[in-house]
Formats: sequence, structure tokens, C-alpha cells
Amino acid sequence: MTLEGVDGAGKSTHMAWIADRLRAPGRKVLVTREPGGTPLAERLRALVLTEHMDPIAETMLLFAARADHVQREIGPALESGAWVLCDRFTDATFAYQGGGKGVPAELIAHLAQVSHDGLMPDRTLMFDCPYEVARSRLDRADKTPDRFEREDGAFFERVRQAYLGLARADPKRIRVIDASGSLEEIKKQVEVEISGL
Ligand code: TMP
Repeated sequence: MTLEGVDGAGKSTHMAWIADRLRAPGRKVLVTREPGGTPLAERLRALVLTEHMDPIAETMLLFAARADHVQREIGPALESGAWVLCDRFTDATFAYQGGGKGVPAELIAHLAQVSHDGLMPDRTLMFDCPYEVARSRLDRADKTPDRFEREDGAFFERVRQAYLGLARADPKRIRVIDASGSLEEIKKQVEVEISGL
């Protein structure tokens, strides 16, 4: 399962309790994130979030990180019978680098095929909210914004629309969560989505 969404939608706040809920029936659950999840991928994350770079270079670094992550962590976990809960995956590349920065979707699909053999999550919760809500959350957050969080409203809107397009194309896998309300309201929607798993 993956969590996705625009910056400021608050998805990461929900990781821990969702993981607990998935573990409740006695399942093993690997909780991880992208870019990151292995020592190499975390180093690539630091570069991608801080260095100014060409969108194609950025896309290839994200897939280099992802290939390492899938090979060393996600693949072995799935093979051992564990579930994987990952904060972002390839949908984020379609939304940010594809929708946000104009990298061709065919290139992203090709890199996905070669770096993780088309492996995709069984279920994705996509946290969606308008720019104003996300911006005010990011401005209140007690952390220095990264390269993506500093982008403007137009970039945010392109990423958001790309995510919504992905959800429309695959509504069985990608469930849209209205993340504009309170934590409790968001939690209730997530409960509905994961209750049958
Ligand atoms: P995070 O803040 O959710 O940990 O994600 C880090 C940033 O990286 C976030 O702004 C989105 C961006 N990102 C991409 O642009 N493309 C990707 O493929 C991934 C996984 C993340």
C-alpha cells in the first residue's frame, strides 16, 4: 500500500496509525518511504530535495533510488510475505516530474518498467486538498521547506491535477481522501478505505 498526495496534504501524519492498523491481525508490515528507504536511496533523496537540477536528471535519480529500494527492501519484504506501507512511490513521479515538470509519461513508464519491473502497489490512498489549505499547513510546519515545498501554486495545481487524473484512470487502486478537513475527518475516511483489508 502507498500513501500519495500533494505536499501539505498531511499524509505522513497518518503513517503510524495506518501501519498499526495493518499490523493488528498479526501481519508483518514494512514501513518505508520514497525517495529513500535504503542508505543509498536516502543519500539520493538528500540530493533531489536540495540540489537544483534538470527534470530528466531528477527523474533518473528518483528511479535510481527506487531501483535500490525495491531490490534491497521492498522486494525481499514482499517475498517474505510481509506487507509494505510506503510513503510515495512511482505515482509521485508521474505527478511531480510528469505533471509538475513536463517529463514525458512514456519515459516515466519505461523507467518504472526497467527499475522495478512494473511492480505497483495493490492499494493507494491519495490525500487531496486545495493549494490554500496545503500552503497554510506548510507555512505553519516547524521545518525548512524543501525544493518541492517552495514551488508556487501553479506547480502545485499541475501536480494535484496529475494525481487526480491517475486516480480517475485507476479508481480501484487509487482511493482519493479529501484531506482538507480536520485530522479526525481525514482519519474517518481512511478507516473506511482500510477497514476491509
Ligand atoms: P515527502 O515530503 O512526502 O517525503 O516527499 C519528498 C518530496 O519529493 C515531495 O515534495 C515530493 C517529491 N517527490 C517527487 O517529486 N517525485 C517522486 O517520485 C517522489 C517519490 C517524491
